Amino acid sequence: MKVLLFGGAGYIGTHVALQFLDRNDTVGIFDNLSSGLRTNVHEKALFFEGDIRDKQRVVEVLKQGWDVVIHLAAYKAAGESMLKPIKYSENNITGSLNLITGCIETGVKHFILSSSAAVYGEPTYLPVDEKHPKNPTNYYGYTKLCIEENLKWYSELKGLAYVSLRYFNAAGYDEDGRMLGLENNPANLIPVVMEVACGIRPNLLVFGNDYDTTDGTGVRDYVHVTDLAKGHVLAADHLLAGKGSLIVNLGSEEGLSVQQILDTAREITKKPIDTQYVDRRAGDPAKLVASSKMANKTLGWKAEHSSVENIIKTTWRVYQANQKHLEH
Ligand code: WQD
Repeated sequence: MKVLLFGGAGYIGTHVALQFLDRNDTVGIFDNLSSGLRTNVHEKALFFEGDIRDKQRVVEVLKQGWDVVIHLAAYKAAGESMLKPIKYSENNITGSLNLITGCIETGVKHFILSSSAAVYGEPTYLPVDEKHPKNPTNYYGYTKLCIEENLKWYSELKGLAYVSLRYFNAAGYDEDGRMLGLENNPANLIPVVMEVACGIRPNLLVFGNDYDTTDGTGVRDYVHVTDLAKGHVLAADHLLAGKGSLIVNLGSEEGLSVQQILDTAREITKKPIDTQYVDRRAGDPAKLVASSKMANKTLGWKAEHSSVENIIKTTWRVYQANQKHLEH
């Protein structure tokens, strides 16, 4: 199979590329390296530097002929999307439409979208299944929903078959240590905890410990990035077998609180991880946990690497490996 990953040099993209390379598929990586790393691009992959906002460059690479395109090239910071909506619409909407229309114009028939639980907004019931109302509470979540809706139209009007994978909280690193790139200036909980453990961030600010949860801190569905990556391979096989379009959640179905993540990180890193309990962050739901029954039923997908120990252990190993240059 020939698979082209837009945003393939990023955190998720690199792990997805590894899964396809492990079974000797031909992998193309299209990335502008704005946050992705050239060092993440496996030597066996074909690299194309480019930006999804450059339609001409997108079409030029698509013309090389691909069985499936996977779109992982979106900006993903919910908070930033509320401050810089233009940055998000130009990349996440216009850029994504360049990929969809480019596929139609060059005859690529299968498309996989990296989507997000952010399309749901504040949960009205738990666990969240795919029928849950879609009321995104941030512009980032809206951009993902907007592209899902365009994919629905283009599948009906032009026969583009697609799978949209709604990730919950992606976390962890490759268990064989094949990915060592770190996110710069992360905002997500686990990388922030790791930076405090490494001593490059003074403390962890816990956004609220007065939620209606077991220990008062926010609960999320953390899913290991290798589980997510395997979901992309299953989705590609599903599309190439002509089984039609799908929208599915990818989550571990297990909720973990900030405090549980913190306690496990202290246990595994043996570091104190200084913490301050501060006010809630605007827009944060108390709890967000997936139902992934649909992914299991349609793709045979199951989270198998997503224990909190494995997530923290594999992440800590990468931060320790980077420790030397993190300190300078
Ligand atoms: C997790 C928990 C915070 C940082 C975001 C995006 C979502 C998706 C995943 C792309 C919450 C708490 C966090 C910190 C904290 N991105 N927290 N201190 O908000 O669940 O989801 O990333 O698809 O679209 O919104 O992830 O890691 O920011 O927060 O207390 O310094 O950790 O309140 O309870 P979130 P997160």
